[in-house]
Amino acid sequence: MRSFFMMLFLCASLLVSPALAADNTSPAVEGILLVAFGTTVPASRVALDAIEQAYSAENKPIIWAYTSDIIRRKLEKQGKPALSVMEAMDRAAQMGLTSLRVQSLHVGPGEEFHQLERMLVKYICGNPKAFRSVMLGHPLLESEQDMDEVIDALLAALPKDRKATEAVVFMGHGNDRGPGDLMLYALGKGLQARDELAFLAAVEGSSSFDKVLAQLKAKGIKRVWLQPMMIVAGDHALNDMAGSEDDSWASQIRAAGMEPIPHLKGLGENKGIQAVFLRHTKDTTDDMVNSRKADLQFTGQAK
Ligand code: CO
Repeated sequence: MRSFFMMLFLCASLLVSPALAADNTSPAVEGILLVAFGTTVPASRVALDAIEQAYSAENKPIIWAYTSDIIRRKLEKQGKPALSVMEAMDRAAQMGLTSLRVQSLHVGPGEEFHQLERMLVKYICGNPKAFRSVMLGHPLLESEQDMDEVIDALLAALPKDRKATEAVVFMGHGNDRGPGDLMLYALGKGLQARDELAFLAAVEGSSSFDKVLAQLKAKGIKRVWLQPMMIVAGDHALNDMAGSEDDSWASQIRAAGMEPIPHLKGLGENKGIQAVFLRHTKDTTDDMVNSRKADLQFTGQAK
């Protein structure tokens, strides 16, 4: 009986073991892991589908993971489970992929992206032979080139009905801590340099909506377009931005005597935004597997 359970355990561990995947003599099998925060709003899934469509031109297997634990728990309850980063890495190994391109579909280097990085390191340390390479594509906004291309894409996608005297406020998510805060501040400055009535405010962090509202009032603006600066037009866009509660941005704009016009489209649907992500996936030199080897060599531990 005991040996039966031992056999069962061995078979099960062989089945799920990703250690066999990285046999260096056979040709590499490439795949793409797209990692988003996630969404529970079915209608906002269109933005993620649009990104997947853009990546399908690469003709490689695509796996999805969501970094948000809360979102994954809610989806599980709805009978629509989504993979965590660790589960998606296991899935990739089980599919026989040996070289993985992981793309962060986060807006900036904030909490969620750093969590993704930590998860990849944890997975690779625990399964050092699972992949020959794991290339990490960085989030949407990291460089000045990213910022210029993102601003082009944002302004080009604004509804044509917007008149030159009407303001537009982009709703970013933001983080209270970390470099993502400074990145959104820079994006706000960049937007204003291109269009003085385009503003960026965020749910969290220093780019608060209060500051933008004060500027809208001071400039005597009559109409304000509202646009999510998030990959999906999910809960924050529907409720905190466009919702009917008194503290939503739309309600605060109305209370100040201006007319809010929400435009509920996630960034994922914007072709210019997809192009920045694709460039990050292709251009990254950040190999999580082999940089680890280099680190070990540097400390003299690898022989
Ligand atoms: Co949030």
